[in-house]
Amino acid sequence: PSGWRKLRNIVQWTPFFQTYKKQRYPWVQLAGHQGNFKAGPDQGTVLKKLCPKEEKCFKVLMKDVLRPYVPEYKGQVNSEDGESTYIQLQDLLSDFYQPCVMDCKIGVRTYLEEELSKAKEKPKLRKDMYEKMIQIDQNAPTEEEHRAKGVTKPRYMVWRETISSTSTLGFRIEGIKKSDGTSSKDFKTTKSRDQICEAFREFTDGFPHAMPKYIQRLKAIRATLEYSEFFKSHEVIGSSLLFVHDRHKASVWLIDFAKTVALPETVAITHDSKWKVGNHEDGYLIGINNLIDIFSEVHDRQTVQTLTERIPRLSLPDDSNGIDEDLERLGRCNLNDEISPTTLPTVSGRCGDKINCVNNNNNYDCKPDDQKLVGSNTSDSTGLRDFVGSNSA
Ligand SMILES: Nc1ncnc2c1ncn2[C@@H]1O[C@H](COP(=O)(O)OP(=O)(O)O)[C@@H](O)[C@H]1O
Ligand SMILES: [Mg+2]
Repeated sequence: PSGWRKLRNIVQWTPFFQTYKKQRYPWVQLAGHQGNFKAGPDQGTVLKKLCPKEEKCFKVLMKDVLRPYVPEYKGQVNSEDGESTYIQLQDLLSDFYQPCVMDCKIGVRTYLEEELSKAKEKPKLRKDMYEKMIQIDQNAPTEEEHRAKGVTKPRYMVWRETISSTSTLGFRIEGIKKSDGTSSKDFKTTKSRDQICEAFREFTDGFPHAMPKYIQRLKAIRATLEYSEFFKSHEVIGSSLLFVHDRHKASVWLIDFAKTVALPETVAITHDSKWKVGNHEDGYLIGINNLIDIFSEVHDRQTVQTLTERIPRLSLPDDSNGIDEDLERLGRCNLNDEISPTTLPTVSGRCGDKINCVNNNNNYDCKPDDQKLVGSNTSDSTGLRDFVGSNSA
């Protein structure tokens, strides 16, 4: 990015100050429209401008198995001047001290089917959208579009999802605020898996406890989605996962249902099949699965790094077997006091994984945790009961 853009992104923007347990802190809004939020009348709450569609979702969610994973909805509040109406929500930041926050928008597209078909009604050539396109990628327009110096809105909408990881990974980073107070929304073209890995690594840098907690919570969310009537009956578009951690805690919540709509009664979706115009698939599970996979990869890499850093102290002078042997010994003997036993065997679902399979040469038990819990027998929900979440961190 240009120097100016960098500067703009470092500048702190604080919509308001929040007070909780007598602590005053600047509230963080990472994405969305400025002016949509203000401090709530009750401690530990925020007000978001009323969007009737979103309120409807929150009302359903308060009775759904997903309730522990969304902010508590506490009804409507009118502004003092009576001009606007807000919904009062649990402030997810209030239990954290100087939190690091990340907003990831989930799904393979961020517009509704109806927005696309509306854009297709009168597809005029748009110069402004052409300009935006070439600002990001000079080669994105076709020869014809270059000649016309314009692109249509539906063409622009579909293209825009391909510059980030939205269309390929089913999620994109919207914004990150780190513990030093700096924040960035400069992720519009963060697309490759490597770029995302690096961003996640940086986000959790210095907070080694956060990564395994995030992975566990994401897996709990994935397991719960399977049982959710809300999830079964809705097309979840433009919704985010909000990641929050500080030195002691870490958690994830589903937020932003302003564009989430009930599916037509005759339509059922899998949330993990490819979207084609008209099939209503949102790719929500594609995003969740990739998030779990990428977080696990970053965590595994860090675990291996920590282990190898400790090896010199454990190696015998005549040991010529190298790293693999040392790693195996570490895993078997549990000599390691920094890495708790729980973080070792559960970090990943991939069986080619040295760490994960250290005690398991047959690889027969290298399954993601939630598969073990939920299993194939969906009529049995005992697994889910063990997994019941909470909406506190
Ligand atoms: N309940 C909440 N607690 C804490 N922060 C929140 C909460 N809801 C939203 N935010 C913050 O506000 C930002 C925008 O919220 P969102 O609901 O996505 O608004 P919009 O509909 O304008 O996109 C999020 O990225 C997050 O930083
Ligand atoms: Mg949003």
